[in-house]
Amino acid sequence: MNNKMWAGRSSKEVDSRVNDFNSSISFDSRMYRQDIRGSVAHATMLGDTGIIDKGESLKIIEGLKGILADIDDGKLQFNPEAEDIHMFIESELTARLGDTGKRLHTARSRNDQVALDIRMYLKDEIKEIIPMIKELIGVLCDIAEKNLDTIMPGYTHLQRAQPITFAHHMMAYAMMLIRDIGRFEDAYKRMNQMPLGSGALATTTYPINRMQVCELLGFDDITQNSLDGVSDRDFCIETASAISMLMMHLSRFSEEIILWSSWEFKFIELDDAYATGSSIMPQKKNPDVTELIRGKTGRVYGDLNTLLVMMKGTPLAYNKDMQEDKEAIFDAIDTVKLCLTTFIPMLSTMELYKENMRNAAARGFINATDCADYLVKKGLPFRDAYKITGTLVAYCIKNNTVLEKLSIDEFKALSDVFDGDVYDAISLETCVNMRKADGGPAPEAVKKQIAYARAAVK
Ligand code: ARG
Repeated sequence: MNNKMWAGRSSKEVDSRVNDFNSSISFDSRMYRQDIRGSVAHATMLGDTGIIDKGESLKIIEGLKGILADIDDGKLQFNPEAEDIHMFIESELTARLGDTGKRLHTARSRNDQVALDIRMYLKDEIKEIIPMIKELIGVLCDIAEKNLDTIMPGYTHLQRAQPITFAHHMMAYAMMLIRDIGRFEDAYKRMNQMPLGSGALATTTYPINRMQVCELLGFDDITQNSLDGVSDRDFCIETASAISMLMMHLSRFSEEIILWSSWEFKFIELDDAYATGSSIMPQKKNPDVTELIRGKTGRVYGDLNTLLVMMKGTPLAYNKDMQEDKEAIFDAIDTVKLCLTTFIPMLSTMELYKENMRNAAARGFINATDCADYLVKKGLPFRDAYKITGTLVAYCIKNNTVLEKLSIDEFKALSDVFDGDVYDAISLETCVNMRKADGGPAPEAVKKQIAYARAAVK
């Protein structure tokens, strides 16, 4: 005899291997709060519309609240034999209330129920992730405010290119993170439609009130087509995509922290609490946290790919393939939260070696563009100025020196346009301070960027 809740058509007990294979309770149980909230709203609507008796509706609501409290308190454990969280809660309700419990699932299917639960779960998670990103942006602004004058080399191709400041570099990441918040907000907006009432695929013949459930659960609107309401997981994919993009930014940042904390750079040092040692090499201090973030980024991309591939060939409406959505999106969420939780304090405690940054900036001929611009301002065509400066750089390399240390005679040997004011024109401070166009590294420009970021996370 089949004792499943959906028994009736079936004459046999399901093979225990199929049961295990089919079951999702081991991972979807984490949505129990959303599932119960959804059921409370559904039961309220069933009572208000008279689809079920009002008194029974109230009993169901009481029962559901009792189950919620018992799970929260650890008094009620999830039954691993249950097919999923929806079946578990419904059967627990029926065990507690008898026939009344059996009325909850009127005018509902697990297909619209799960579509609701995941949306609610993701909405809750996005509401936690956004403040974490804002906190990180705040830390970046704090670091930037203290380092408006901390000159460092800016790179292209990982070759020293032009001087910037550490503040300017930090604010680059702040801008990426602001866009990340926008992506989460967009995903949130689009998933904020309430699918319950879609039923299995074609709604129901009962006189349900979808708008009431929508309002009770705090959604903006209801989904407009029942097939779509139960069968798309685009909102999971959008969320995974926003997470992937955020991870990409954290990963690039991590890569830079790894480089900066190497002896070859030594621009920063991580606090001992956020670095690890080696079991064999006593001198080592390893930036494991950042390496793990870089590694976990690949894992999150995998989650996104799982969701995209899972959905690409499924016909409308619901298919069991879609049960695979949860482990992927849950993993992406858990991973990004874990990364943010560790990354934020690691960043706010890291120490800066400003001298090393400055020395690196002083050595890479990163004022060569400014030297050429100096000549242009004195009337030379840019191509000639470029060539003269290039020759000077080659001369410096050969003589193991830098532009700002050349004598005025050495300058004049290449062009008599050079004058004593060249030293000021190619000093690192001038190079940075002159780049005060909006978005640039000059302290006054970076201050504007900080104000922009602070306003964005208000
Ligand atoms: N556990 C299922 C899932 O996560 C719930 C929906 C089941 N629906 C069904 N018709 N079997 O997708």
